[in-house]
Amino acid sequence: MRYDKLWILWKISNWLFHHHLKPIASLSRFIIRVVLSADIPPELEIGKGTKFPHMALGSLFHPKVKIGSNCVLLHGITIGGKSGHKKLPVIGNNVWIGAHSIILGDISIGDNSVIGAGSVVVKDVPANAIVAGNPAKVIKYKNMFSGG
Ligand SMILES: CC(C)(COP(=O)(O)OP(=O)(O)OC[C@H]1O[C@@H](n2cnc3c(N)ncnc32)[C@H](O)[C@@H]1OP(=O)(O)O)[C@@H](O)C(=O)NCCC(=O)NCCS
Repeated sequence: MRYDKLWILWKISNWLFHHHLKPIASLSRFIIRVVLSADIPPELEIGKGTKFPHMALGSLFHPKVKIGSNCVLLHGITIGGKSGHKKLPVIGNNVWIGAHSIILGDISIGDNSVIGAGSVVVKDVPANAIVAGNPAKVIKYKNMFSGG
């Protein structure tokens, strides 16, 4: 498996965070923030094989968000809490998240789903669904037999 450059950078800061080297992990977070205008906290969980084709430019993730394996996250993405709520989104495996999507609150994003560009997702997304819009709604389901 070929690892994504940004995933490797995050993984290093995540390792530092969990090995009593929080100040160095915070420095790495700061560097990512300055260089990419992206906030990727070290304590976040991101599964193996997840890729950031545009280096997550302008994206912001809450530290307690969970992102599964083999996902693709474009740029300008916000994943965080709704104001006044403590629970955060859980992103499944093999989820494709389009540019400038916003995913908020105590919701889960099902495996193999697709979030359309500019969506505002505030409700659970079923597995294999393609959602879009504000608020995001299912526009179709993936055809699992055609591989699409
Ligand atoms: C969501 C997406 C994957 C759907 O693609 P698709 O399966 O080809 O969907 P279609 O183009 O057939 O659109 C189906 C319907 O959803 C609407 N739709 C598609 N994408 C939408 C979006 N992002 N926001 C709102 N509505 C959208 C279409 O207008 C269409 O509506 P209609 O049936 O009323 O005419 C795609 O439109 C998308 O947003 N991709 C993200 C691309 C991206 O982030 N690019 C960044 C490049 S750097």
